[in-house]
Amino acid sequence: MPRVVVTRRMPPEVAARLRALFDVTLNDDDIPLTQAELVGAMQTADGILGTVTDRFDAETIAAGGRRRAQIVATFAVGYNNIDVAAAAREGLVVTNTPDVLTDATADIALLLMLAATRRAWEFETMLRRGEWTGFGPTSFLGTGVQGKTVGIIGMGRIGKAMAQRCHVLGMRVIYYNRSPVADPGVPGAVARDSIDAVMAEADVVSLHMPGGAANRKVISAERLALMKPTAFLINSARGDVVDEEALVEMLANRRIAGAGLDVFFDEPKVPAALLALDNVTLLPHLGSATIETRTAMGMLAVDNLEAHFAGKPYPSRVA
Ligand code: DGY
Repeated sequence: MPRVVVTRRMPPEVAARLRALFDVTLNDDDIPLTQAELVGAMQTADGILGTVTDRFDAETIAAGGRRRAQIVATFAVGYNNIDVAAAAREGLVVTNTPDVLTDATADIALLLMLAATRRAWEFETMLRRGEWTGFGPTSFLGTGVQGKTVGIIGMGRIGKAMAQRCHVLGMRVIYYNRSPVADPGVPGAVARDSIDAVMAEADVVSLHMPGGAANRKVISAERLALMKPTAFLINSARGDVVDEEALVEMLANRRIAGAGLDVFFDEPKVPAALLALDNVTLLPHLGSATIETRTAMGMLAVDNLEAHFAGKPYPSRVA
């Protein structure tokens, strides 16, 4: 039986399947592995089932010249935590878990958009503090999204799913994608030829591009400054795509109306300056966190491991 190390606790059905298929080391305590432990796993297992909290940099992949693992099946669609160029160079297979989390993640982008525009967190906090004195015609006013423009940056699977949700709400959709999109999947959706154009025009900018070196801080201070003062920024993609310090400044100085964030630059650290703001809704990277989706992600990761050890085609290989 192939030996597999799993770096975090898995949903029960996934754990049961792993036990049936492999000589598996599970992590029921769910304490992330140290870098040294991860290197040790690379040296002693045939395959690793990892996730976004594991850093597979070039050194870890090399594993001191004693790597035994041939595959890292990551439990995530995003793989900015993995040096895929080093993996390709070293002949390490990398797989991910696309598609199965598209709806759950787009739902969270939608939730963040509505929470931000309707100021739900701010007013809920007020209610919980016992400060609500009753209904008022001009109390708790937010911003309606109907007839407004959502700007999707990164029109992949999740970007399209968010665009569809916004279309159903009566929003106009514009988008930017690095490569041409054959079918945006939404009637009337219009491509713009730059990120800048989307940032300047949209009432809500929703980020759906991959993280990693190519997109690091691509939503820069200069680009944030292009946004309308009434606009909102939603990020359910990766924290490293935004210049977080610049965003804090924009929010603190009310240079934009608000933001909804599920991801942060240096997770799980969230800057104190961001925590102190009332015009931002913050979630702890839970875009894909439904039991159905997390089980499907685990099953797809196991499908990839199974395919690898059976010499069959990978359902979703990235390197
Ligand atoms: C991913 O899959 O990339 C998410 O960020 C975790 O679900």
